[in-house]
Amino acid sequence: MIRVENLTKDYGSRRAISGLNFEAEQGEVVGFLGPNGAEETTTIRILTGYMPPTDGTAIVAGYDVVNESLEVRRRVGYLPETVPLYTDMTAVDYLQFMADLRHIPHSKDRAYEALKTVGLENRAESYIGSLSKGMRQRVGLAQALIHQPEVLILDEPTIGLDPAQVVEVRNVIKDIGKQRTVLLSTHILSEAQQICDRVLIINKGKIVAEDTPENLQSRLTGSERVSLLVRGEMDELPKVLNKIKGVQRVESMPNGSVEFQFAPGQDVRPEVAKTVIEAGYDLLEMRPVGMSLEEIFLELTREDRPVRRNKSRGEP
Ligand SMILES: Nc1ncnc2c1ncn2[C@@H]1O[C@H](COP(=O)(O)OP(=O)(O)OP(=O)(O)O)[C@@H](O)[C@H]1O
Ligand SMILES: [Mg+2]
Repeated sequence: MIRVENLTKDYGSRRAISGLNFEAEQGEVVGFLGPNGAEETTTIRILTGYMPPTDGTAIVAGYDVVNESLEVRRRVGYLPETVPLYTDMTAVDYLQFMADLRHIPHSKDRAYEALKTVGLENRAESYIGSLSKGMRQRVGLAQALIHQPEVLILDEPTIGLDPAQVVEVRNVIKDIGKQRTVLLSTHILSEAQQICDRVLIINKGKIVAEDTPENLQSRLTGSERVSLLVRGEMDELPKVLNKIKGVQRVESMPNGSVEFQFAPGQDVRPEVAKTVIEAGYDLLEMRPVGMSLEEIFLELTREDRPVRRNKSRGEP
């Protein structure tokens, strides 16, 4: 469980995080999504007890990250942005060492288990210095899992992994998320879509949206954008559409269709259908097009966009 209230962080005179509020429950994978510098890593460092907030509270696994940071660290597995590894230790020795630090019984067995979980059992005896970047990342993940923590906090966990490993690591994370609480940051929108139950989009230290990936998609788009396929004088079609009240952002697509938008609640589709037919076109298809998570993300983190926070679909 993670509970964050009014979390605020200043770096000198610059306010990095301002009044973050969110929760992550047991059995939930929550994704932090933001552009570079949105303060994901700053937030994660606070949640793992590595840096104090300027204001606000964060309770992780039932303990306060400021006043009870040792208790928090005991219960949290943390994969930092850059994993500090001892290059002159073998993978298994390093993990055993980390397990010993945490007073875990049967540390060697646990080290092997953790390596197996991240698909590195065949490199257990390799020196970390001789492992590839992706393999080191997996050693870092194994280190985060070794004490079977209640809460797992992962800063860009799949960065540097090859495609096959990405799939495997995502499955590992998803699996862990069924029982425990997982918070991860990622820039990969499809990753958020695949593994997160809920996504928090943050920009400049503020949450600009919070929802399931599916709801984010439909909330921001619904059936607002429509693809229209007709047969007839295509050059004239945008002009015809633009004359209809409520039709916005008409765009000719490379595949020969035309897309347009309308404001929520102003469904112009009946009028569009009537107009194009009256103008002599054959109407072949009209269907809603969902925005990709990429487009939603860009829309939400646009510089000139007023910051807002919606929890559920349909709020203004
Ligand atoms: N200790 C610090 N003192 C001052 N500024 C810092 C400190 N740590 C980070 N920052 C600044 O805070 C901003 C956000 O950093 P942070 O590492 O949280 O970004 P991020 O959202 O994780 O970005 P990325 O996606 O690139 O990892 C950056 O502008 C960074 O320079
Ligand atoms: Mg970061």
